[in-house]
Amino acid sequence: HEDALILAIETSCDETSAAVIRGGKEILSNVVSSQIDVHVRFGGVVPEIASRKHVETITLIMEQAVKESGCALKDLTAIAVTQGPGLVGALLVGIVAAKSLSLALDIPLIGTHHIAGHIYANELVHQLEYPCMALVVSGGHTELVLLESEGEFRVVGRTRDDAVGEAYDKVARALQLPYPGGPHIDRLAAEAQNVIELPRAWLEADSYDFSFSGLKSAVLAVINQTRMKGLELDEAALARGFQESVIDVLVAKALRAVKQFGAKQLLLCGGVAANRGLRAALTSRCGEEGVKLLIPPGSLCTDNAAMIGAAAHLKLKRGQFTELDMKADPALPL
Ligand code: KG4
Ligand code: ZN
Repeated sequence: HEDALILAIETSCDETSAAVIRGGKEILSNVVSSQIDVHVRFGGVVPEIASRKHVETITLIMEQAVKESGCALKDLTAIAVTQGPGLVGALLVGIVAAKSLSLALDIPLIGTHHIAGHIYANELVHQLEYPCMALVVSGGHTELVLLESEGEFRVVGRTRDDAVGEAYDKVARALQLPYPGGPHIDRLAAEAQNVIELPRAWLEADSYDFSFSGLKSAVLAVINQTRMKGLELDEAALARGFQESVIDVLVAKALRAVKQFGAKQLLLCGGVAANRGLRAALTSRCGEEGVKLLIPPGSLCTDNAAMIGAAAHLKLKRGQFTELDMKADPALPL
């Protein structure tokens, strides 16, 4: 399996993506087609539209990924696909494509977990050392995952309500910023001259769980009160306050988890890993505490098929293949 060629497919949300990965490490191609331009006018991802768009583009994207890789279909070792979690109709499109190819080429199918993908995106650029701790922050997930050894995932903390990216997007929407709002809040926060202090949800003293819906409500309350009083809102200061609250909690819990579980590295993964404030805060805290921090480049942080290929390679090494009657699982456990 040193030079196994995996064609990986990812369609769990609003990106249609296919990639060819050699040996679990080397990206031969990674084609990502974003649907953001169709969802932007609805202010969020519309599941039915997402599925239809995947149907329209999946074949082209797969063809392009194979072509760019310079490999022929007959050279492929296995087909990997995101089995869940995600939008069920969106997942189904990738799964049907993957099953068809697996059957036609008579090569194994590897159903893969989306979060395992986000975590193993790091393996495409770094060398993981175990045990390590992953902080997964995306539009759908906020999780602290302990990896005792390769491919052994243990979720030690997760959000009890909104995911971080979801909170960013909702706050951005309240400020009438376009979807996805995370990058806009990030920019506003960086420009801010002042900061509007907002609460932090620490939950129980020993908990690694997160909660962001109270913070989101606090932001909405500030917006409403300012409007009612007829005052002008300092949007940048509000964005800064929101972001500081989010980052304080994420950084503190991630570092506490690293210590408690004796992790050798902290991996930052998921779309919110693009956040400059979060990167800067983690980089400085990890520097102070002597913790090795790994962050993949931006293109591997947001949804893409290369990360699914990397995670699938672990299963290929162990001969863990998936039956052709496998089903999409919107709530697949890690
Ligand atoms: O991982 P991802 O591409 O898709 C999911 O699996 O959810 O993450 C998308 C999320 C969106 O909520 C988006 O607003 C957020 O990542 N995001 C950011 C930034 N860039 C993307 N959030 C904060 N700051 C950013 N710079
Ligand atoms: Zn994702």
